Amino acid sequence: MKILSINGSPRGHSSNTNKMIIEILKGAEEKGAETEKILLSELDIKHCSGCFCCWMNKNNKCIINDDMEELIEKYTQSDVVIYGTPLFMDNVSSILKAFIDRCIAIVCPYMEKDPKGEYRHVKSSSFRIPKFVVVSNAAFPENSQFQVVSHYFKRLARSMHTEVIAEIYRGQGLLLALPKHADDRYIIDNYKKLLYRVGKEIVENFVINEKTQIEIDKSLISYEKYINSIEDYWQKVLGN
Ligand SMILES: Cc1cc2nc3c(=O)[nH]c(=O)nc-3n(C[C@H](O)[C@H](O)[C@H](O)COP(=O)(O)O)c2cc1C
Repeated sequence: MKILSINGSPRGHSSNTNKMIIEILKGAEEKGAETEKILLSELDIKHCSGCFCCWMNKNNKCIINDDMEELIEKYTQSDVVIYGTPLFMDNVSSILKAFIDRCIAIVCPYMEKDPKGEYRHVKSSSFRIPKFVVVSNAAFPENSQFQVVSHYFKRLARSMHTEVIAEIYRGQGLLLALPKHADDRYIIDNYKKLLYRVGKEIVENFVINEKTQIEIDKSLISYEKYINSIEDYWQKVLGN
């Protein structure tokens, strides 16, 4: 199985998103998956210009000359894509969205009705679309913060004739950056073990077990303790 992770955090290597993805990929590799980790922050992916030239050009080639051509090749050769994003203004980051918009190049222009009678593009006969895994983290504590992201990827999967096979959302995401010596660090180390398990299960079953999902969705610490620690931090920084 080939797994491509695409991290849309502008913070790249040091991002909390990266911390999550690394553990999932470790688990996937343990089960024999071939993995590749992309940091969009290190690539040149320009915005789609909306010209539709890609639908008319040979091999659906976009007229914009940047890193997208190479990335789209890796994307269409993967069995699973992990979309990683911090929650930004209740949605995906803009650099991830820029990448997703450019995927219009591998969508077929013709339209058809889906099994529920709603129109979408016809499935492309030239490009294989991977299954989706969504990984996101947010500063706010609850998983309800990810409603838009969750809905968005389900819609995108429908449009692109594929499916979302796993969603890993981490409220209280700021805890992922706890220093190694912090008192609560063991909580993050345990959480990382769960992410590792997620990676293994994706390779084994193309899905994560119900028990693992319940564990991974659990709050890391109480909301009150978390919010108090954030408040303390900002009071120190802002001095009020
Ligand atoms: C522009 C911007 C918008 C954000 N919007 C939200 C938001 O809507 N909800 C939330 O809980 N956190 C929000 N955050 C906080 C980030 O999701 C949080 O810092 C996250 O841990 C960053 O992940 P990263 O290190 O992977 O980039 C926002 C941060 C920034 C910089």
